[in-house]
Amino acid sequence: MIIAIDGPAASGKGTIAKKIASIYRLHHLDTGLIYRAVAKAMLDAGHSPDNGKEALAAAIALDPANFDEAALKAPAVSEAASVVAANPDVRQALMNYQRAFATKPPGAVLDGRDIGTVIAPDADVKLFVVATPEVRAARRVMELRARGEDTDEHEVLADLLRRDERDSRRTAAPLKPAPDAHLLDTTHLSIDAAFRAAVDIIEGVRTGRKRR
Ligand code: C5P
Repeated sequence: MIIAIDGPAASGKGTIAKKIASIYRLHHLDTGLIYRAVAKAMLDAGHSPDNGKEALAAAIALDPANFDEAALKAPAVSEAASVVAANPDVRQALMNYQRAFATKPPGAVLDGRDIGTVIAPDADVKLFVVATPEVRAARRVMELRARGEDTDEHEVLADLLRRDERDSRRTAAPLKPAPDAHLLDTTHLSIDAAFRAAVDIIEGVRTGRKRR
């Protein structure tokens, strides 16, 4: 079984994806980490994230076995990740890894922006997870403060809106729901309630019921 979970930053898709993978005993890939790793390699080497030639070289050289998740999640990397992710050559270079991951037995949950549309268009279940920008910003602030990072809520909101805009407007695999994706709005849901709603959708599809 392949489950595609897309949506904007801090919509809850990552947390839902992890929990779903764990209960269905599937592999899990947070595909944002891949773009973040390319971006971090660029920043570490002193390249601008919009240097297409270097970004492609960094994407080709990527080693997902050596990801330092905490370093990749740093806010400074987020913005650069959305710049490198708009580069079609970078996306193409990262496609095979993601597709191979998706088809590893017994199946996988992948979360990102283009899983249901580009990486796994034949996924068994597709979720598109959303929440209002304000709620997403509040969640991201809590997450960052829990990690001891001093953050300004207005800045976090501005960063999310900027990334939403860039991710949705790019021509290469923009952030958008697949036509057959099930929309899940987590604005007013706790983590547990969002997870249960996701399971309901998956079980609905598995038992042949259509819910949207
Ligand atoms: O999900 P996360 O916020 O970690 O993703 C960082 C950036 O990577 C996003 O803003 C987006 O530009 C890019 N991304 C993407 N396609 C994916 C996953 C992430 O373009 N499948």
